[in-house]
Amino acid sequence: MPRTYDLVLFGASGFTGRRAAARLAERMPAGVRWAIAGRRRQPLEDLAATLSPTPDVLVADALDAEATAALAKDTRVLVSTAGPYAVLGNALVAGCAASGTHWCDITGEVPWIRDIVARHHGQARETGARIVPACGFDSIPSDLGALLTARALPQGQPIDVIGGFRLKGGLNGGTFATALHHANHRWPGPAALDAVPGAIHPPDRRTVTFDDRLASWTAPFVMAPTNTRVVRRSASLCAEDGAPWGHPFTYDEVALAKGRGRALALQWGLAAAHWASARIPALVRPWGPAPGDGPSESTIMGGHFAGIFVGTAANGASARTVFQRSGDPGNEGTTRMLAAAAIALLQGRGPGGVRTPANAFGPALADDLRADGFHIVTEVA
Ligand SMILES: NC(=O)c1ccc[n+]([C@@H]2O[C@H](COP(=O)([O-])OP(=O)(O)OC[C@H]3O[C@@H](n4cnc5c(N)ncnc54)[C@H](OP(=O)(O)O)[C@@H]3O)[C@@H](O)[C@H]2O)c1
Repeated sequence: MPRTYDLVLFGASGFTGRRAAARLAERMPAGVRWAIAGRRRQPLEDLAATLSPTPDVLVADALDAEATAALAKDTRVLVSTAGPYAVLGNALVAGCAASGTHWCDITGEVPWIRDIVARHHGQARETGARIVPACGFDSIPSDLGALLTARALPQGQPIDVIGGFRLKGGLNGGTFATALHHANHRWPGPAALDAVPGAIHPPDRRTVTFDDRLASWTAPFVMAPTNTRVVRRSASLCAEDGAPWGHPFTYDEVALAKGRGRALALQWGLAAAHWASARIPALVRPWGPAPGDGPSESTIMGGHFAGIFVGTAANGASARTVFQRSGDPGNEGTTRMLAAAAIALLQGRGPGGVRTPANAFGPALADDLRADGFHIVTEVA
């Protein structure tokens, strides 16, 4: 059956969704039939009127299995910014996997990615649906940074990559709600998303250390429990396809800090935030932004992020990738990365299944992001 749309953006009325819609409109190839979707018609109509090319408006509740299945069946690519995905993504992804529709999103929810791998990887391989979660700040910089670094090193031997991040940005209501949703559940372990069992991974960082490879004081990084699992899935999916990143490949991730004092402050701040959101969520909730809200435009445009990736091969060779952009990583960076992933799904080919950004798009995605203002450079030492 011919499909009415090439691309549908679901959750377009949300804080990230509105920005993602604008980024997609800017980049939409000529002749693409697209729509924005969500549960409330009026804000979607208002948004559509600001976009060129003007999208159609579709109304569906994410919890309505029939409506989401119909939506998924009638487009080639479905992009979603409606989260928490553990609540709002299940029916949509089930619809995509069943009908061979490609999917991408900006989740950082490893428990949910693990669930959709278990439920839909096999089916999506059969229908050809390329399901690609984590196409925002979590986890495209880590995933591409690790890929580019590992690929610059001699192959056929052990490769170890460490990623270090520094960033400045704001907090969205949707991100805050999603973090609280998962706060008192156990986070899946280091190998949770591995496609091939048996790999040995470093444990999640808990302490402050000086890292010689990064030449910096380091602390536990808030996104590392997501990014490390995604990067390891990428490497293991490539190993499954016969193109391993190293024999073996290991990846670890930290926050970079200017001095030991700043590193300790990051460590304690993160530990306090985890403790409070798990133990006293009702007291924490009023302090954060409400769903639908987010940082001011000046905070978004005044933000930035940088990821430094250092890889070492067993023979002593090393490579270093810098991946950075101005603008709040969770809004400006994320919506640009999501748009690039969505366009890649629209235009590219590849096997179905629950994939990762690096596995689905490879280094071509980095070329596309460079053209959109990202600074991504790999050097071999
Ligand atoms: N990876 C990253 O860097 C990154 C960055 C930012 C956000 N995120 C993630 O993206 C998600 C959205 O964040 P946000 O700040 O944009 O949140 P938000 O502003 O609260 O938007 C949530 C969206 O979900 C929609 N929605 C809620 N319940 C629905 C339902 N039952 N059916 C259909 N649509 C429904 C909302 O529609 P209404 O407008 O009708 O309420 C809205 O469009 C979160 O999970 C967040 O963690 C990730």
